[in-house]
Amino acid sequence: MTAPDAHREPTTTLAPTAGPTTAGRPADNRFKILDATIKRHRRQPDALLEVLHTAQELFGYLDRETLTYVGRALRVPPSRVYGVATFYNFFSLKPKGAHSCVVCLGTACYVKGADRILAAVQQAYHVPPHGTTPDGQLSLATARCIGACGLAPAAVFDGDIAGRMTPAAAVARIAPWMPHDQ
Ligand code: FES
Repeated sequence: MTAPDAHREPTTTLAPTAGPTTAGRPADNRFKILDATIKRHRRQPDALLEVLHTAQELFGYLDRETLTYVGRALRVPPSRVYGVATFYNFFSLKPKGAHSCVVCLGTACYVKGADRILAAVQQAYHVPPHGTTPDGQLSLATARCIGACGLAPAAVFDGDIAGRMTPAAAVARIAPWMPHDQ
């Protein structure tokens, strides 16, 4: 995950964390969405499972920084956050593949053909949704909304959000990661 570190430190007020677009890339609104979920649950520690679900949906997996972020925001000790994240097997603490592609299947993206993007990646690299190629090069995941609806259809490649995707563009974006005989 390559979300800007500046987005990582939760504040006591949970101020919006997503920064402006940098280097011509879309702003990463995923932490805004995560913060909205935290706010919706009034930062209640009981919301830990729900918030971790949202984080996993947004990022495809839960790395140490994200677990720390959630724990601080909900005022839950790291040991409990880690315990919950490791207890349930639907949480993943790292991407299973060397590279990751998360295709957004939220409404805005879906109506603009996100399902065709997903199908193209699956077909090109023989990888199921939420699966990893046998050689461990690519993990494919889906998300409900990654906060880039204005750029729909969107996908995230190794943590970088890309908008206005097409099936061919998604396949091409992944190609350099894969062995040439794919
Ligand atoms: S629905 Fe895809 S970014 Fe919001």
